[in-house]
Amino acid sequence: MSGLFITMEGTDGAGKSTQLNLLNDYLKNKGFNVVFVREPGGTKISEKIRDIILDIDNQEMHYMTETLLYASSRAQLVNQVILPELKKGSVILCDRFVDSSIVYQGIARNIGIDIVKKINNIATGGLIPDITFFLDLSPEKAIERKKEQKELDRLESEKMYFYKSVYNGYQKLIEQDSERIKVIDATQSIQKIHQNIIDNLEKMFF
Ligand code: TYD
Repeated sequence: MSGLFITMEGTDGAGKSTQLNLLNDYLKNKGFNVVFVREPGGTKISEKIRDIILDIDNQEMHYMTETLLYASSRAQLVNQVILPELKKGSVILCDRFVDSSIVYQGIARNIGIDIVKKINNIATGGLIPDITFFLDLSPEKAIERKKEQKELDRLESEKMYFYKSVYNGYQKLIEQDSERIKVIDATQSIQKIHQNIIDNLEKMFF
């Protein structure tokens, strides 16, 4: 066996972490050697790059710098962990991957889809996940989940605009790659979402 590369995508607040943890437990119980990593991060060097990207002091960071840093973090993760583990037959569970860059940097930050794809092709050597789960939660529902309030202040409206373009970006990706990206309704119960994910995996791989 040459391993299985699973990624999970979604807007902030869609419940990715909960589902990744459940899936990690499920796969381990099934006897797979599971390697669970997050992006940006997952290696010592990539975690250092993550700190630079997410540092609130780095307000002046250009979106192209951000794009290249995500890709650098990813290049290290792919070459140090993902490829060697796939060769050994492990299941890789990755919290976000290239799709996040295409949507957040390519579309929401306006760097351009083609440029982000090219950069990431170089960074990953063209590695594509076997299957990707998109936890589908509309921006309105995500905000609602965060707090029960009707009117948004200026900052929150800005965030809302950003969330919407991220969400629409994912819709575009899904249209182009519906074979690989499985859309999971994230408004369902935690257990139902988990079951949907497992059903998809069992149908395709186990
Ligand atoms: P994180 O705290 O891990 O958030 P989440 O739980 O939503 O994954 O921060 C990751 C943030 O980085 C998240 O807002 C999405 C963003 N991101 C990009 O903009 N581009 C990328 O390529 C990746 C991997 C993440």
